[in-house]
Amino acid sequence: MPQPFDHTPVIPVLTIERVEDAIPLATALIEGGLNALEVTLRTPSALGVIEKIARDLPHALVGAGTVLRTADVTAAKNAGAKFLVSPGLTQSLAAAGIASGLPYLPGAVTPSEVMIAREFGFSFLKFFPAKEYGGVAMLKAWAPIFPGIEFCPTGGVSEANAAEYLALPNVPVVGGTWVANAEAIRSGDWAGIRERALRASKLRPP
Ligand code: 3PG
Repeated sequence: MPQPFDHTPVIPVLTIERVEDAIPLATALIEGGLNALEVTLRTPSALGVIEKIARDLPHALVGAGTVLRTADVTAAKNAGAKFLVSPGLTQSLAAAGIASGLPYLPGAVTPSEVMIAREFGFSFLKFFPAKEYGGVAMLKAWAPIFPGIEFCPTGGVSEANAAEYLALPNVPVVGGTWVANAEAIRSGDWAGIRERALRASKLRPP
């Protein structure tokens, strides 16, 4: 399945408590140059946030993260999500993800998990939590054994180390909360978020 993140080096991973924060937050990120937004299904308002961004900012590439059950796939798609991300993969999620017709990034952190995901037809995977599972060194070791498989590392990725990940041939994009963490969103720090997004959107390999 083609990955839809060709034009961005960073996907902000967003945990949003209040639906009213959706538009100012998404606007700050988009103004900062980040158009692909992963809204995690970790709060009761997440689906409402996805719905609002999909409706009011149709050019934003809003997706759902922390997709754990097949019901999440349906709910996210119905809310208007344009891509789906899971921290892992199960047989039923693979089927639901494929049936959704949306770009779907399941998670894998071991060679066997990568191979299972590939058997299901996935070639673009989330690698989470990247830091705990070997970070740059692990993905570097996987590049020659898994040609054609690309990864979006998240978890411990930051402004300081994102370029190291992006320098890997199998990492087209990274994700993380550093651009807009829960506290920045809660306090409505849209200017700070826009600034961090601007810096993130310019991140390139060293
Ligand atoms: C994710 O779901 O990808 C993580 O919560 C991101 O982790 P981070 O806070 O270390 O960026």
